[in-house]
Amino acid sequence: MENDRYDKLKQIKDEVLNDKNLPLYSYRIDNHYFPVIGQGNHYALIMFIAEAPGEEEAKTAKPFVGNAGKILDKLFLMAKIKREDVYITNIVKDRPPGNRVPTTEEIEAYSHFLIRQIEIIKPRIIVTLGKTSMEWIVSKYKLKNFGKISQVHGQIYQLKTKDQLIKYIPMFHPAMALYDPKKIGEMELDIKKIAKIYLDTQKNKQKC
Ligand code: URA
Repeated sequence: MENDRYDKLKQIKDEVLNDKNLPLYSYRIDNHYFPVIGQGNHYALIMFIAEAPGEEEAKTAKPFVGNAGKILDKLFLMAKIKREDVYITNIVKDRPPGNRVPTTEEIEAYSHFLIRQIEIIKPRIIVTLGKTSMEWIVSKYKLKNFGKISQVHGQIYQLKTKDQLIKYIPMFHPAMALYDPKKIGEMELDIKKIAKIYLDTQKNKQKC
């Protein structure tokens, strides 16, 4: 039972590695890239979901190891969140050319892997990083009257999956701070709020 999640997540990894029909498969192979499946604790209470890997990520098979990752690491450090305790992943598992936003077809082709990751890990909290993953969550879980990311970041919502209720908090993408350094203050407030919810969730779980 202990290895159950490992085996199921490994199955997803094998499928992504071998599915030649995935829209970014040839681009991955031609560039000697790796898919980035996700990283972290298979029993994480909190899952961070972004858009798609960048070049550094595709070279190393790890999420958020480039410049945006450095910002995410700083945010985690200030909020006392340990990378090894959380799970970090993307909707699209392969790098889109030139780091462009994934197309609707790419999101459609890869998103079933993410749905399975959510069902396997069963996080109590989901945080999206950026607009693309926020819009995917809003559409997938049918959240009504949802505003723009500039209005809703840091707010707490609720998602209903087939077997659980999950707290959902949208955040700006860490890369935003590279283009608009003023945003870092808002991100710091959001991550502190998320860390508090995460801590409360850990305490509640210990009581059960
Ligand atoms: N940007 C993303 O959206 N995902 C990563 O893994 C890295 C950068």
